[in-house]
Order: sequence, then C-alpha cells, then structure tokens
Amino acid sequence: MATIATTRPTLHKVTGSIGAEVEGVTLSGDLPQETIDWISDALVENKVLFFRDQDIRREDHIAFGRRFGELEVHPFAKHISAFNTGDDDPEIIVIESRKDGGARGTDMWHSDVTWRLEPSLGSILRCLVGPEAGGDTMWANMETAYDLLDDETKQRIEGLEAEHDWENFRNGLRNAGVPEEKIAAMSEDFPLARHPVVRTHPVSGRKAIYVNSIFTTRIVGMDKAESDALLDKLFRQTAIPEVQVRLRWKPGTVAFWDNRSTQHYAVGDYGAQHRLMERVTVCGDRPH
Ligand code: OGA
Ligand code: MN
Repeated sequence: MATIATTRPTLHKVTGSIGAEVEGVTLSGDLPQETIDWISDALVENKVLFFRDQDIRREDHIAFGRRFGELEVHPFAKHISAFNTGDDDPEIIVIESRKDGGARGTDMWHSDVTWRLEPSLGSILRCLVGPEAGGDTMWANMETAYDLLDDETKQRIEGLEAEHDWENFRNGLRNAGVPEEKIAAMSEDFPLARHPVVRTHPVSGRKAIYVNSIFTTRIVGMDKAESDALLDKLFRQTAIPEVQVRLRWKPGTVAFWDNRSTQHYAVGDYGAQHRLMERVTVCGDRPH
C-alpha cells in the first residue's frame, strides 16, 4: 500500500528572532510543490532554516535548489584557495578548510554576492565534514537589526545607496596566477554595484539593513570619513545577540538562508581541523 507523502514538515523555532529547524522532510528535486511553497514561506518568515541528518547526494542538493529559482555559477570561486567548484557541477561551490588553518574569507559578516547587480535570493549550504569542535556558522536577522536602530539613524539612511565591490577576491585571483588583463576583463563583467542601504524585502515588504563588511565599500555621495563611520555603525548591528542564531554543524546538516534579510559569519575557531561544505546559490532580483 502506498504511503501518503507528508507535504507539511514540522517547524521548531531556534531563537525568538531568527532560525528554525525543519523536521520531516528529505531534500530532493522531487518534493511536491506544496512542500516547496511551505519551505519558501518558512524561509521568508524565519530567515534561515536548518535541516538535520540529510543523507543526500550532490545531485539532490542541486535539484532541490533549482526548485527555488535558477542557480548561479560563481565567477571567481574556482580561483580562490578556500573555495572551489564541483568538477562537473559549476553551480556547486566547495568550501574546504585549508590544512594550514589559513585565511578563510567567510569569517566576516556578509550577505552573499552583493557585488552582483542582482544578488542572490538565498544560499543552501550542506555539511560533508564538520570539525569535532568549532566551525559553527552564525546568522543575523537584518530586519530586526534595522528595527533596533535609533530613529535619527533610520531617517539618515532612508533613500541612501551604497557601492558593493568584489575587491577581496582580486588578491585571491592574483595569488592564483590569473593575469591582470583577465582580472581587468572580469572587472568589466562585474562592475561596482549600487544598492539601497535599506532594502525592502520583495515578499514580506519588511525593511532590512543591506550593507555588509566584506563587500560594501562606501555610501554614495558622502565623504570617506562620514561614510566609514556610518557603515561601521550599521555593520555593528550584526553583533547584537538578540538578532543572532548560531548553528552547530554535523555531516548531513543543511542550512538554507535568505540573503535578502540576513547576514552570516563562519566562525574561524577550528584551526587546521577538516571542514568541508558544499553550497548552491539561488539567483535573486535587483534590490529595492
Ligand atoms: C557561504 C559562507 C559559511 C560557512 O557559504 O556563503 O559564507 O559556514 N560559508 O562555511
Ligand atoms: Mn557567505
């Protein structure tokens, strides 16, 4: 007798502000549309979803991601030492710790690929090998981070725009021996992006701080000192404990986050221990 597939998983909130663990679903491309819709809604509401014990293959991960939109191919990952792409799967980003415990690049608060004109809607990260201890990831709810700003700052940032650049990848490209002419050509393909400092979520209509410490370089129309001071103030909102959630990974744990309303930080406390993750990234739209 056929069993009736459950289309509504169970959700357990992890904090009062952000993050929920989802139980009762195995991620694959074959889930009923009703379950995909349920996950989309839960994502917007909770901002990051955690799925445990996912004994799935890379194909399932990719096929699951495709149900939420087109998957993007990261133009630089294959050149950067802490990253790579899957051999035959360009939409996979492999994030693997280095044996010398050296530079990771993700241990700063950020939202993914905000240097794109149309940055990612969300990222789906799967743990293949986790350190015995350490290597957690943290997320910050940037809507609550916005709400907790004082009124004067809210008024000051209304309508402002900021520039986002992939400068931190340029050194990685140089170290990987990519010639200057090629880097110049990439800079033409991926010019500076301008986005609103306060983004309105296209689904929920809620406002969020949309500048981050890895990619945002300056606020348009402000002198450097003023821009640096204001950006620093906005970046520091991620440090408020009431906007944060922290995940302890195990092999088979998957996290799916909304890049439009969150930032994340990979805690770099595991030295030379092995940590191996794979990510797929769902394309997004132009921020407003
Ligand atoms: C990412 C990232 C976090 C981590 O996948 O976008 O920043 O915990 N990684 O590895
Ligand atoms: Mn990231």
